[in-house]
Amino acid sequence: MITSTVIFDAFGTLFNLDTALLNNIDHPKKNDILQYTREKQLSYTWLFSLMDTYESFSEVTYRALTDGIKKYNAPLSLLDDFASLYMQPVVFDDVRTCLNQLKKEGKQTGILSNGTKEMLTSGIELNGLSHNLDHVFSVEDVKIFKPHKSVYGMVTEKLEKEPSEITFVSSNQWDVAGAHHFGFNTVWVNRSGIFKESIIDDEKIHEVGSLDELT
Ligand code: LAC
Repeated sequence: MITSTVIFDAFGTLFNLDTALLNNIDHPKKNDILQYTREKQLSYTWLFSLMDTYESFSEVTYRALTDGIKKYNAPLSLLDDFASLYMQPVVFDDVRTCLNQLKKEGKQTGILSNGTKEMLTSGIELNGLSHNLDHVFSVEDVKIFKPHKSVYGMVTEKLEKEPSEITFVSSNQWDVAGAHHFGFNTVWVNRSGIFKESIIDDEKIHEVGSLDELT
């Protein structure tokens, strides 16, 4: 199922975005705020990319969070608490074992993310992942967001490999669609058992229930 190079999406795939992690926020609408924020954040990345302009993912995140907080009439003082999911991200339980195993098997590993290098480095260091990740690719270097082909192209260019030699792992169906379209071998991580959207309904796309199944 996987090639000798395995590249992961970050947010929602390695880094957990569950509101359960926000136990310091006591607001009845915190789930709605986060869900709306995630949708807005994505639509802003696509909007900026189509407008041929760029704003960093941390700026996009604060922008989307501000909208989410305002929409649900919550206090803006919660902004930094919500933002901590993105600025000091925590990994899912299956991440460390999976990366350890991949390294044991001699695979090259990496992250390819919309996130800024600062956000990614913070997540890697906080969770002690530096020794298990060989590469960190951020859209900051191309200043356009996924699923633009120049984002996935950073990996093939830097590693001097064909797209089919790269396995790309993501929980986000739109990201899997983009990576598959680019030619990567793709794995969709479906931890919560949601339905498969038509955009990735392709037998070449692998599906796993957790990262444990990847190795
Ligand atoms: C990322 C987001 C899109 O890390 O999940 O690229």
